[in-house]
Amino acid sequence: MTNHILLRDLDIPDIKNLAVYSDHEGYAAWKKAVTTMKGEEVIGVVKDSGLRGRGGAGFPAGLKWSFIPKDIFPKYVTVNCDESEPGTFKDHQLIRENPHQVIEGTALCAFAIGSKVAYIYCRGEFKEPVVQLQKAIDDAYAAGLLGKNLFGTNYSLDIYVHLGAGAYICGEESALLESLEGKIGQPRLKPPFPAVVGLYGKPTVINNVETLANVPGIVLNGAAWYRQNGTEKSPGTKIFSVCGHVKNAANYELPLGKFSIQDLLDMAGGSMSGLPIKAVLPAGSSSPIIPAANFGAKLDYESMAAIGSVLGSCSWIFMDESVDMVWAARKMIRFFKHESCGKCTPCREGTHWALSVYDKLLSGSGTIEDVKTIETVNKSITGKCFCPLGEFATSSMTFTLKHFRKDYDDFISMKKGGRADWMRELQRDHHIHEMHSGAIPVHGIPVHH
Ligand SMILES: Cc1cc2nc3c(=O)[nH]c(=O)nc-3n(C[C@H](O)[C@H](O)[C@H](O)COP(=O)(O)O)c2cc1C
Ligand code: SF4
Repeated sequence: MTNHILLRDLDIPDIKNLAVYSDHEGYAAWKKAVTTMKGEEVIGVVKDSGLRGRGGAGFPAGLKWSFIPKDIFPKYVTVNCDESEPGTFKDHQLIRENPHQVIEGTALCAFAIGSKVAYIYCRGEFKEPVVQLQKAIDDAYAAGLLGKNLFGTNYSLDIYVHLGAGAYICGEESALLESLEGKIGQPRLKPPFPAVVGLYGKPTVINNVETLANVPGIVLNGAAWYRQNGTEKSPGTKIFSVCGHVKNAANYELPLGKFSIQDLLDMAGGSMSGLPIKAVLPAGSSSPIIPAANFGAKLDYESMAAIGSVLGSCSWIFMDESVDMVWAARKMIRFFKHESCGKCTPCREGTHWALSVYDKLLSGSGTIEDVKTIETVNKSITGKCFCPLGEFATSSMTFTLKHFRKDYDDFISMKKGGRADWMRELQRDHHIHEMHSGAIPVHGIPVHH
């Protein structure tokens, strides 16, 4: 796609620099809003655009902003740039290559809800893109686009960048708020929702980086302009982070609802190995896996739901026929066990036990009874967790079992376990685990000291 709306760095060299961004209508929406619009009008146009949150759930952005109480002060905007879902790499391209658009979108959100302070919470590992983001913020202050009495009005706005410590759970909005407040990053009980009781107990909007990067165009050009792309229920364009067994792993910005999964795979050059593509995870490890038979589905929220999956954070990990789904499920379970914050028992204990069963399968000592145990552990987690991370963890088990049950059966009947590379992987994982926790390895998998 040429003339990108979000990945404008692909069309306009150096748009990360303020002068170049300004030459391409940069901060025009910001000036228009602060000097000619009321906060409610900004909320209205974002509502009309149908913009849906890009952090995963697809919640309408304008509607979320309208929930902020008018009579409670202060209020805050928090931008979610935690981007920890495996395979997602869109938000850090935005803050590194097109940071002013993220800043302008953040500023417009703050103005719309009557907030004077915004925080951009970045994943702990984003040290390098954060330098670019901070430079852009400094340049915006120097140009009078942030700070006190903007454009000669009595409206003032400060934006701060905060680096997390690299925990997946801190992408969950309430854990993010805890972390931002300097506490352990664990989810809060909801309700109350952050729109009412958020950062420091005050009304807070939390939006994903990509969501907010859409806002300047909407405010400048109107809702109808935004709706030129996409479908009625999934308007606009969306960034698809594509990786795995494809030739050209990259971010692709596409209109929602126009292309199919197969089209996306073709755009990414098809299979890297030449082997047929077996399946794809559309939103990293937290999403229901999609077998190749469903690659005709269109790329929008509704079509993904219709095939039993999600658009989510749009991190498309393609896997070719060489991937054994028992191995892939274990990989994901290991991730969730590591990232479980430990606050609730079903997730903390369930991911631990699930991993130990998968370890047993991979090490070659698994039986058909172990698959039943996986199903039992899965049931013990499903619907019983404090936050969605526990549910995400079950996806890898539920949907590899649903679509690739044969992989499990073959694994056991053909005694596939115990492959040398898998044994090395198990040893390495348990070595790392031991170093972190001092825990005893399960099922007698040898650990090198
Ligand atoms: C375990 C977990 C991890 C999450 N990680 C992220 C993340 O890295 N980035 C993000 O924007 N949203 C993430 N979310 C979703 C946020 O909780 C929240 O819904 C989102 O930031 C809202 O922004 P949006 O309305 O613009 O999508 C995560 C949710 C969960 C349950
Ligand atoms: S589901 Fe997992 S990540 Fe969420 S609160 Fe419970 S232990 Fe923590």
